[in-house]
Amino acid sequence: MSEFLKAMAFRHACKRFDAAKAIPAEAFESLLEVARTSPSSFGMEPWRLIVVRNPNLRKALKSSCWNQNQITEASELVIFTTDNNVVRSGTPYVRKMFERRGLPGEAVDTYMGVYKNYLAPIESDEVLLENWTAKQCYIACANMMTYAATLEIDSCPIEGFDKEEVEAILDLPEGHSVALLCAFGYRVNPQSEQKRLELKQIVEYR
Ligand SMILES: Cc1cc2nc3c(=O)[nH]c(=O)nc-3n(C[C@H](O)[C@H](O)[C@H](O)COP(=O)(O)O)c2cc1C
Repeated sequence: MSEFLKAMAFRHACKRFDAAKAIPAEAFESLLEVARTSPSSFGMEPWRLIVVRNPNLRKALKSSCWNQNQITEASELVIFTTDNNVVRSGTPYVRKMFERRGLPGEAVDTYMGVYKNYLAPIESDEVLLENWTAKQCYIACANMMTYAATLEIDSCPIEGFDKEEVEAILDLPEGHSVALLCAFGYRVNPQSEQKRLELKQIVEYR
């Protein structure tokens, strides 16, 4: 089996983490690096990661996250937040993200125009914009979880939280929002059996 498939088999949504076992700093930094180098739509990298290490803050978050034990027991808790202001069309940030590709001025303007058209129906609605930036976070989070599994580090993606409460606890700046959380650490219990639909139930060829 390839290393990648081994990691896919190793990864499960870990419910109970060994609170006494810390992820080595270098390994955790490599997980963050995987998030950083993940792809995003138009290369906008809207994610802003908050690593919560303060035990009091973890405790405060737990009750807004369906009281899930992962929040306080995991070695590292990553909160994927997004900056929804900077990615709006026409901002200096967006221009810089296109300019860094080393394109000539006219090409940057063309990109800015295409981006504006693409984003127009999305950025007209705050919720749609938050959903669009959140989608990018899911890609980064998935990459982190699979990479973590190659290092035999467990993880649990967490969507079970009260968005407004978590955003208030984090005191996020205006225009920032929480996409999802992900806990990383080491399992206490054996891995649960992986239950999945058959390929023929989810794939069709046309
Ligand atoms: C986006 C997302 C959000 C999830 N949120 C939670 C959560 O809040 N709490 C939890 O225990 N598991 C959560 N899960 C885990 C799923 O329930 C789990 O991945 C699924 O049941 C398959 O099980 P497995 O990952 O262990 O194979 C989430 C998974 C995803 C992809």
